[in-house]
Amino acid sequence: MNTLKPKPFVKWAGGKRQILDKLKKYVPLEFNTYYEPFVGGGALLFELTPKSAVINDSNQELMNVYKVLLDYEEFAKMCKELNKHERSHSEEYYYKIRDLDRDLKKYQKLANYQKAARTIYLNKACFNGLYRVNSKGLFNVPFNKKNKVSTYDASNLLLVHTYFVNNDIKIMSTDFEKSVENCQENDFVYFDPPYDTLNNSFTSYTEEGFTKKDQERLFKTFKKLDQKGVKVMLSNHNTDFIKELYKDYNFHVITAKRNINSNGNKRGLVEEVIITNY
Ligand SMILES: C[S@@+](CC[C@H](N)C(=O)[O-])C[C@H]1O[C@@H](n2cnc3c(N)ncnc32)[C@H](O)[C@@H]1O
Repeated sequence: MNTLKPKPFVKWAGGKRQILDKLKKYVPLEFNTYYEPFVGGGALLFELTPKSAVINDSNQELMNVYKVLLDYEEFAKMCKELNKHERSHSEEYYYKIRDLDRDLKKYQKLANYQKAARTIYLNKACFNGLYRVNSKGLFNVPFNKKNKVSTYDASNLLLVHTYFVNNDIKIMSTDFEKSVENCQENDFVYFDPPYDTLNNSFTSYTEEGFTKKDQERLFKTFKKLDQKGVKVMLSNHNTDFIKELYKDYNFHVITAKRNINSNGNKRGLVEEVIITNY
């Protein structure tokens, strides 16, 4: 048992904690730099705690939290701000903090540690604990109606901070394709994209707006990395579309408990696949 590993500190759609043991079996024994282009809550990153890693997610608010955790002063200020959020917590306060991004000019003036504390607070106090923005990019999840909120585990955040500063960790917030441009032979990339939709229509989008075209672009990126000698692993739903795209690679089918509709109140067993080029 290793109790000194950090753990994800936000609840994130598609979090990999429940299938970590299955995933770990397919991680190569040796590699140089670890890349996670869709890092989300970072379950596999924290489980592997590689010495050299490049982590990325297109969600800038999320990546700002990781950046704040790199710097001890910023991190301490964020915790103070979180204490303030916990003390002031109420439905009215939740909406006041949630709606800070409605005035973009004012929002941009907030310090990074304040934005990071807002992201964590909203993640813990919103309905279903998920991050979702509307078409204008504004956080729009309603209040979870709980009187109390606990926003962080200080010892876990300290473990994240310590892991980041004692290792070579690069934090990016861009499109996945760009985040892997500098990959070299024997690096290891784990792609955990928004999954292909289970109802197989070519017009369906995931909630994050990740389309079939994006899945195809991801496949091309996978193939390019493969040709460079990079070790690549990818998670997705086991749909006909994904099977056809990655037919030349290795498939490991697993079952996972998932929210199977968009409002998260219906759960079921869904087939997922772990695809590797090794
Ligand atoms: C399935 S989640 C990842 C879950 C994560 N592995 C975990 O354990 O929590 C997919 C992530 O992809 C991000 N994303 C969506 N489109 C992207 C893009 N074009 N480039 C990079 N990240 C993207 C989303 O913000 C989301 O955090």
